[in-house]
Amino acid sequence: MPSALCPGSFDPPTNGHIDVIERSARYFDRVCVAVIANPSKQPLFSLDERKEMLREILGHLDNVEIASFDGLLVDFAREHHLDVIVKGLRAVSDFEYELQMAQMNQALSPGLDTLFVNANPSWAFLSSSLVKQVAKYGGAVDGMVAPVVVAALKARASG
Ligand code: PNS
Repeated sequence: MPSALCPGSFDPPTNGHIDVIERSARYFDRVCVAVIANPSKQPLFSLDERKEMLREILGHLDNVEIASFDGLLVDFAREHHLDVIVKGLRAVSDFEYELQMAQMNQALSPGLDTLFVNANPSWAFLSSSLVKQVAKYGGAVDGMVAPVVVAALKARASG
């Protein structure tokens, strides 16, 4: 059975990310969550912090592993024997860029397909950027991110 690669910045992970990963874990024997070490935007949380949050949130899933990468996603997929990239789509606005990335990855690594999973409507409005913005100004993000992320955002806001 093929294995799945769920890549992202996860700065921080939201319930939307977790939903897509948990659903992927139902369909694939092995799911690798790959955290990009140096996202294009300066991250709020270090690579270790982002990985640790994901480990804590997803620790109940035996078939999910947390890793990190720098460089091309296709190289990571090949080196770790991962067959399919899984991405969540919140709205049509996500589609254009995600399609472009999927086609670039396919051009770089023929046979490496991307499967799109629709976001759960409960989380369709969520993004890491909005969560960070709301938390920075003291808004409540409980219920949008895991408790460990709420705590980390609070610590960052007060620190
Ligand atoms: O959570 P994000 O920021 O939407 O994740 C984007 C990510 C990390 C999946 C994407 O930027 C990526 O795959 N970067 C690795 C560089 C790469 O392979 N680029 C060429 C293919 S588009």
